[in-house]
Amino acid sequence: MTTTITITGAGGQIGYALLFRIAAGDMLGPDEKVRLRLLEIPQGLGAAEGAALELQDGAFGLLEHVEVTDDPAVGFEGCDLALLVGARPRGPGMERADLLAANAGIFGPQGAAIAANAASGVRVTVVGNPANTNALIAAASADGVPSERFTALTRLDENRARAQLAQVLGARVGSVQRVPIWGNHSATQFPDVSHATVDGRPVSEALAAIVGDVPEWLENTFIPRVAKRGAEIIEVRGSSSVASAASATIDHVRDWVRGTEDWTSAGVVSRGEYGVPEGLISSFPVRSVAGEWQIVEGLELSEWARARVDASVAELVEEREAVRALGML
Ligand code: NAD
Ligand code: LMR
Repeated sequence: MTTTITITGAGGQIGYALLFRIAAGDMLGPDEKVRLRLLEIPQGLGAAEGAALELQDGAFGLLEHVEVTDDPAVGFEGCDLALLVGARPRGPGMERADLLAANAGIFGPQGAAIAANAASGVRVTVVGNPANTNALIAAASADGVPSERFTALTRLDENRARAQLAQVLGARVGSVQRVPIWGNHSATQFPDVSHATVDGRPVSEALAAIVGDVPEWLENTFIPRVAKRGAEIIEVRGSSSVASAASATIDHVRDWVRGTEDWTSAGVVSRGEYGVPEGLISSFPVRSVAGEWQIVEGLELSEWARARVDASVAELVEEREAVRALGML
């Protein structure tokens, strides 16, 4: 089988980190051929064309075809997977929401172009920031495409949270499970360890032996570290995360298409689960079953956790109001 994958912003940093891993089969596995559509704006075409030449030189056995274009109708033609990366990244001192006005205008037209041109079962993953609200805008503009097909990347946040826990616990990151991210891909996000396990044992027990006061450590060390990791990367490397973001995108799409054994995190459309207003694209604990994300329901949220979820969801509501005021919804 062959999957057609459109990558917007393919001439940018994350695009460059994504393309070669997709072509190598890291996302869809060693048996699935891929056809790549690299969608850019005119200023980015040269970089995307250069990447296409290098893809050719990689002699990837799974890569059937690469096309570079700045025409969304061509870029999304027949696409099964759309990775919406193309957008401006933030710089030092900015919050992701500061990108709303700069980037929101990209996602309405792309949603419409997806509706008009993509394959009927298209799955869309928004990486460009602010990812949740950009996904909301794209979904709202894609007449006839179910909103469930539009998702926002919060897997990077989950990967960061699991890695931080593993480091403190002196454990392998693969042994740390069930650390969902709730809410927005922003500093208000809530990385939730209340159901987390390390080698099958509750993380809270293991943490108590190491950090002592677990609630204090979560509040003042762990959550800020994870929620502000994007800013830390910008400060240390001088520009926003790239390879880790590409890797998380691969994880997200692979799990969506091929299924999960346990929970993970994704920004998906709310149907009112956990009191999150219907229609928002919020991060939840999710499983992927038969190619669909399902929100893990019935989890207990403590009063403290509830307040954290509510604060991040309130920010998503504010962002929705802001793009409505800009006339983009
Ligand atoms: P970059 O500036 O290196 O690349 C962006 C590319 O997008 C450029 O080549 C640009 O020409 C292209 N582009 C701009 N508008 C476009 C449009 N309308 N159609 C197609 N292409 C377009 O930036 P980057 O480092 O690759 O980051 C891309 C986005 O991803 C940023 O918004 C960044 O904040 C975001 N990001 C999100 C996460 C996440 O976890 N959700 C993580 C890291 C970065
Ligand atoms: C990240 O989390 O690294 C990205 O969203 C980039 C940013 O602006 O933080």
